[in-house]
Amino acid sequence: VLNLAAATDPGWTARALAGLDELLVDHAHAEKKAAATAVGLLFRYPERADLLAPLARLAREELAHFEQVLDALARRGVPLRHQAAAPYAADLHAAVRRGEPERLLDTLLCCALIEARSCERFGLLADGVAAADPALAELWRGLLACEARHHRAYLDLACAVAPEPQVRARLAELAAHEARVLAAAPPWARLHT
Ligand SMILES: [Fe+2]
Ligand SMILES: [Fe+2]
Repeated sequence: VLNLAAATDPGWTARALAGLDELLVDHAHAEKKAAATAVGLLFRYPERADLLAPLARLAREELAHFEQVLDALARRGVPLRHQAAAPYAADLHAAVRRGEPERLLDTLLCCALIEARSCERFGLLADGVAAADPALAELWRGLLACEARHHRAYLDLACAVAPEPQVRARLAELAAHEARVLAAAPPWARLHT
């Protein structure tokens, strides 16, 4: 359903759970970045009337997620701070082709894959903290359902840009790239390492 080429390595789950504060700070930044990416598309493609309302809604939902994660950080007494970004998003977007409509299609599909990976990992995190921190597990369970919906929303937007067989073929290529990016990621306690 999530169109990922590879499941998350169990080593990531152990690392993430051992570095929960760092992971939560990264998660807050990731929600903020997801909103910024959707808003960035609103600026770059103002003429794409079919994309505007879905992207505006997505951006609002990501900012609401950001607030939820800020609450979780406050409950743990952890301040939001700057953290060097993991190379994931930049490495993933390096595969985006130049020229339109390929650039838009690839960007939407990269966004779809980021949503899918977040969704998968929120499930792993929720299971991992269920006993120790039921409130945090509940947060991740709730977000997981939203990110699955966002994955679908980005795929629908991609299908407004190119015919579905072309979307599917490119999605499979980018999913393989996403799995390679993660396999080469630094061993940090971040959402996408
Ligand atoms: Fe989100
Ligand atoms: Fe999302």
